Amino acid sequence: MSKTSDHPAPVRRLDYRPPAYLVESVDLTFELDPARTRVTARTVLLPQRTDGEAEPLRLDGRDLALESVRLNGRELGPGDYTLGADALVLPPQAGRTVLDVVTVVEPKANTALTGLYASGGTLLTQCEPEGFRRITYYPDRPDVLAVYTCRLVADEEEFPVLLSNGDRRDSGRLPDGRHWVTWADPHPKPSYLFALVAGRLGHIEDSYRTRSGRDVQVRVYAREGALPRCAHALGAAKRAMAWDEERFGLEYDLDTYTLVGVDDFNMGAMENKGLNIFNSLYLEADPETATDDDFAAVDTVVAHEYFHNWTGNRVTCRDMFQLSLKEGLAVYRDERFSGDLRGPGVQRVRDVRALRERQFAEDAGPQAHPVRPDEYQEISNFYTWTVYKKGSEVIRMLHTLFGEEGFRRGLRLYVSRHDGQAATCDQFVAAMAEANGADLTQFMRWYGQAGTPVLDVEPVYDAAARTYTLVVRQSCPPTPKQPAKEPLHVPLAVALLDPDGRRVPLRLTHEDAPSGTERVLELRQPVTTFTFADVPARPVPSLLRGFSAPVRMRMPLTSEERILLAAHDDDPFVRWESLHGYLTELLLGRYRAGDAEPAPLPPALTDALARLLRPEEPEPALAALMLELPGFDTLFGALDEVDPVRLAEVLRATREELARTLYEPLLECHRRLDDGRPYVFDAERSGRRALKNGCLSYLAELDTPEVAALLHRQYERADNMTDRLAALTALADRGDGDGVLEEFGRRWREHPLVLDKWFTVHARSRRPDALARVRRLMDHPVFSETNPNRVGALIIAFCFENPLRFHAADGSGYAFAAEQILRLDAVNPAVAARLAGCFNSWPSLDPSRRETVLRTLQVIEGSEGLSPETSEIVGNASV
Ligand code: ARG
Ligand code: ZN
Repeated sequence: MSKTSDHPAPVRRLDYRPPAYLVESVDLTFELDPARTRVTARTVLLPQRTDGEAEPLRLDGRDLALESVRLNGRELGPGDYTLGADALVLPPQAGRTVLDVVTVVEPKANTALTGLYASGGTLLTQCEPEGFRRITYYPDRPDVLAVYTCRLVADEEEFPVLLSNGDRRDSGRLPDGRHWVTWADPHPKPSYLFALVAGRLGHIEDSYRTRSGRDVQVRVYAREGALPRCAHALGAAKRAMAWDEERFGLEYDLDTYTLVGVDDFNMGAMENKGLNIFNSLYLEADPETATDDDFAAVDTVVAHEYFHNWTGNRVTCRDMFQLSLKEGLAVYRDERFSGDLRGPGVQRVRDVRALRERQFAEDAGPQAHPVRPDEYQEISNFYTWTVYKKGSEVIRMLHTLFGEEGFRRGLRLYVSRHDGQAATCDQFVAAMAEANGADLTQFMRWYGQAGTPVLDVEPVYDAAARTYTLVVRQSCPPTPKQPAKEPLHVPLAVALLDPDGRRVPLRLTHEDAPSGTERVLELRQPVTTFTFADVPARPVPSLLRGFSAPVRMRMPLTSEERILLAAHDDDPFVRWESLHGYLTELLLGRYRAGDAEPAPLPPALTDALARLLRPEEPEPALAALMLELPGFDTLFGALDEVDPVRLAEVLRATREELARTLYEPLLECHRRLDDGRPYVFDAERSGRRALKNGCLSYLAELDTPEVAALLHRQYERADNMTDRLAALTALADRGDGDGVLEEFGRRWREHPLVLDKWFTVHARSRRPDALARVRRLMDHPVFSETNPNRVGALIIAFCFENPLRFHAADGSGYAFAAEQILRLDAVNPAVAARLAGCFNSWPSLDPSRRETVLRTLQVIEGSEGLSPETSEIVGNASV
């Protein structure tokens, strides 16, 4: 069968049809061997269409060697079926059908890391979204739910541990040195949740007693050498189990909950029923090798996968277009969980920052798509910031509209009503609406409309009438295939502050009495006007509190108002945003001014920053976030025809100026927080470290002997990776950093996850030879083009996080990216497609770079044998 070239017809959401056959049960036997694994699948199918003629029985399959097919016990010959490049088709079947299929796959040769593959000596599967069809012929779609058993047979020496979904049933030995284990999963599931792991792994364990008194055995498996670093993940799993019971009354439903870490994995982790598999980056953490951010990421990712057990597995998706039904919801839940661990305000600011830097850019570029896309060529390209993070914001808006109790009611109704089913986003929203007696018809547009909405707010104070009016206009820019947009239902959380920063009681003019000092206003029309009464003096508006909707808000605020909000508002997001907005305008102004000598930094601004460094500042973690300059991507997104090299230089020069202006307070704050206490990972201490290292990073812009000594001292004395990496990163851009860089590389050469940090420090470096060093490091013995973490740390980090060198005027960065995309595409299309996203920002570049990028995209697009994954990304970018 020849592969269809060019762009295959897209899959469309509205073409959904229910499955022609359902599956009652699947019994799998794997005779595991890294070179050739034989898979025997007995599938019991039931035709669904009783009216009219039955349909052919179509089973998905990709890159499989078919050994035999038996239909109801009878061996079939090639004349009895059609075998295509992506399916095995049998004649229509009238009744219950028993199909025995034997296929052979080659795990060792599978570098795409989807289906059954090898990671070091471990064999494992990744089936979401369409990996199961690379294991056997099967109706590989999420609305076909079946009960699975799985028998794993393998050499006992090489694969002492054999794991699959559900609970372990039985095991035994064979005379030839092989052993076997049978697993049974009582919960019906779609094929994308199937998993197996086989290898020489150790484990640590603990038990968890559920609220109703059942004991669950919780285990974390990893390479023996990694086990000492897995305790934090085991604790995170138990914390997540307790949290879901407390918040939502959701209990675990099997006797064992197993987590496994592997080194080669395309994404972060996977929620296979009862057998969550993690990229080791998100399972391993100890103070010597992991930073505070790594510890926090382990908490978040472990919780995310655990939460999928109810929102994803027990209730799954009807089709892959509904992906955000489980992903947006799981992200929302992991963000809330992380907020409860490290403080909701700080967590919120971090989440909003990530959303605005990544998702807003996605929504403004050539890959913009709705939270629920309408079509795709490759579903694996749709595990995006929009589906995950904007999807989470959509869920959060429901929480903002209905409050904690109303949200909980809606979630419980959704889970109980759809338990065991494959559901849609409409059904989720319908449950929320019903549980709260609300009409969410207009709200559904958040799922269908791409692009970041804009709110333009015009405040009017009438001193004579003592009224304060907010006129709010909403609009949304056009996105690919969506030229015109409808108005959305937007919750806008507001408070009004008096000149001392205190909240004013709120009464809208049509209300009899004031109620509360914080409100959620609801926008539904293109223009909405809200008038507050009894406002004695012009207030300072505190709007979009908690970032109550994923929008860009534009409002005329004076510098004084911004400083007041940054200092006194009790909403952490508004505090951060006020300073961030001020800094953004300052930096954009400097960029637009070109070569003109920049005006000095306003003292009001530097005073506000200096206040963050004082001991009285209540929340160092928030202060650290407020101290940071807006990121390159945020500034880039606000400009047209950008010269990225000049923009990067404006950022650097401003950092240096701030460091010079705040030199003493920065040193003093660093000294105060560098308290010599031994490392403990918790919210309070990691917040102090974040502020301390924020100071360090500014100071490193300066070339004083004091700073040099400080950097080297922190690098040498650190008892933890957070402080050591902060010093290393700060030193990497400086002339005096080479010795330390070399020392770090030597010290951690046996530890790939730590060496990844070192690769990334090189990849992000401002030094002129950054690209040359990246190329050299690709020959480092630990680097491997088949490992997504290595590629991510070095190649993807350079192309996405080093704007200064990636956008080099001579085109060397673009040429490098193109060369790597083509090389990696043959190894792992998912990784190549991710890298290809580095060109998405081209429409905002200056004309000369734009032309270079377009030419580069054409070369990639025209290359022979490009994968569908990469060709979809490149094709969208180059129209
Ligand atoms: N469902 C996984 C999660 O927890 C993502 C897995 C996607 N894997 C992939 N190869 N596309 O978010
Ligand atoms: Zn997920």
